[in-house]
Amino acid sequence: MAQNTSDPEISYTKVDRHALQALLEACLAATELAQVRELVAAYRLATVGAAAMLRPEFAPQDPDTVLLQRDVFIRELDQVLEARTLGRAAYYLRRLEKSTGEARTCEVNDVNLNRWKEYDEILTDSLWVMDRRDTSGAHRGWYWGNFVPQIPHQMMLRYTKARDWVLDPFAGSGTTLIECRRLGRHGIGVELNPEVAARAAKSLASEPNPHAITTDIVVGDSAAIDYTSLLRAYEIEYVQLLILHPPYHDIIQFSRHDADLSNAASVDAFVDQFAAVVARARAALAPRRYLAVIIGDKYQDGEWIPLGFRAMQAVMAQGCTLKSIVVKNLDRTRAKREQQALWRYRALAGGFYVFKHEYIFVFQTP
Ligand SMILES: C[S@@+](CC[C@H](N)C(=O)[O-])C[C@H]1O[C@@H](n2cnc3c(N)ncnc32)[C@H](O)[C@@H]1O
Repeated sequence: MAQNTSDPEISYTKVDRHALQALLEACLAATELAQVRELVAAYRLATVGAAAMLRPEFAPQDPDTVLLQRDVFIRELDQVLEARTLGRAAYYLRRLEKSTGEARTCEVNDVNLNRWKEYDEILTDSLWVMDRRDTSGAHRGWYWGNFVPQIPHQMMLRYTKARDWVLDPFAGSGTTLIECRRLGRHGIGVELNPEVAARAAKSLASEPNPHAITTDIVVGDSAAIDYTSLLRAYEIEYVQLLILHPPYHDIIQFSRHDADLSNAASVDAFVDQFAAVVARARAALAPRRYLAVIIGDKYQDGEWIPLGFRAMQAVMAQGCTLKSIVVKNLDRTRAKREQQALWRYRALAGGFYVFKHEYIFVFQTP
């Protein structure tokens, strides 16, 4: 089960390809296991000390060196040292040789499948239990109704490459855009409420921008905006990822604006408005790319309204393929903790269960 996924401090070691190749060749030519151990031990001592904090996709291109995640590299060398036979040591050495060769990535992200063990921070299970939100840097959690930064973080690592473009049509406090700066993805957020957008822009400006990427918040109604002309202003035709975190209907009223999805007159009207946003935003998404919808359910008149599944069906009705339903626990804010006992009493009395989860629906366009 996935636990907390706040970005761990990952350090990388810059490894000289020629020195590593020489080591591998010497080891594979050795006739005694003791010789291999001696060579690897000396190499380990000399190499893994220096650590860099750069993500490999942003490292300067250098044909002579390769950036390897330090912990994984040490573990791989240790595996060779602990091998009990020469044959086993040779097997581990060949695997190391393959993993440090040409990167094997897919079309939508920078994950090097030849070094898949380096990606501990990327979740692949459908149940996310996060015991705390990432509150580092500009993520100050001032906006009621924001999502945990780990959600856009995970989506971008899985579904974008460095310098791809991400569109968030319900930008709120700009959580997605802050993550864009951290991960080096360009981001455009659309937010209906000008005051919220202004505050989000201010908070975004306080986040360092180490990869010099574009992150903008545009004030507008996502159900009416012309994304084609909006993207043209950035000299792009498409974005590579959509992250949609709409209001969960009227659970929180975000503004008094008629176009605000939290003011939709009924659940059906909410679903229709949401579908209108998806239709417009989808046109801005490159073919065979991903969109993520983050939404929870609600209660109304003693009935559990499956808002999440209604929204999911609305996206599927537009020809998108459902790739995953992730269930994530709802974080416990102080206010919610205080109400917990009351909700437990109501649940026991009313025959229902207390909401503790929300959904991340992941789709791919045809
Ligand atoms: C659930 S919040 C998103 C929070 C955001 N993910 C964050 O972390 O801060 C939904 C946001 O959508 C905005 N909104 C509602 N209707 C909208 C519309 N038609 N167009 C653009 N934004 C809208 C609300 O003002 C609110 O800020």
